[in-house]
Amino acid sequence: MYNLVVFGAPGSGKGTQSARLIDEYGLYHISTGELLRDHIARDTDLGRIANEYISKGQLIPDQLMIDILEHTIENNPDTANGVIFDGFPRTIEQAHALDKMLAKRGAKVDAVVGLEVADEELIDRLIKRGLESHRSDDNPETIQNRLKVYNSQTAPLRDFYTQAGKYHAIEGSGAVEDIFHSIRESLRPTRS
Ligand code: AP5
Ligand code: MG
Repeated sequence: MYNLVVFGAPGSGKGTQSARLIDEYGLYHISTGELLRDHIARDTDLGRIANEYISKGQLIPDQLMIDILEHTIENNPDTANGVIFDGFPRTIEQAHALDKMLAKRGAKVDAVVGLEVADEELIDRLIKRGLESHRSDDNPETIQNRLKVYNSQTAPLRDFYTQAGKYHAIEGSGAVEDIFHSIRESLRPTRS
């Protein structure tokens, strides 16, 4: 089982690069944001709760998110070969929970790819996408809040995973294909 975390600020390209990585490595992709948006689209109880947070650019509470993720892994045999975690963990508490969840299965986080992009470019990308995405969080005010939340609650994971020797910093601006190439090269030694 090979477990990869694709990490980065809102708009850094986590979804775009994950789509390439699943093809390359045959891993199962879990985007916690997409999972929640699917609940919102189906108007489930969880979707209604999640929308309250997402539309304001806030994180949904840790324990709720952790339970959803564990349920997804448990009920999905396709995760057995390994998973790309896109948008999870987003707090230190979630990172500890992920370690525990994987340890139960005799596995671990093998590597973390951190897509690093300047704030101005992130904002540009998200505002552009907002013109057609219909995402309740792709508007200028919520984008600013998403970045604030990222810097205060999620960015500390960079140090957390650097200290664990798992963090691979990747320059996340430029052509999608070139970024994918850098990720592949950077991960090569972690794949046995
Ligand atoms: P989530 O869905 O994870 O959103 P996000 O982190 O804000 O990031 P995005 O999905 O917007 O961007 P991305 O990094 O995937 O980039 P993308 O490839 O799309 O989370 C949404 C919300 O859900 C959170 O705010 C929170 O409320 C909740 N949530 C989710 N997970 C949670 C958790 N673990 N705990 C608590 N709450 C959670 O690219 C962005 C745009 O840029 C696209 O238009 C793309 O085409 C373009 N692009 C990509 N690469 C390039 C490039 N190289 N050059 C130019 N443009 C590019
Ligand atoms: Mg995404």
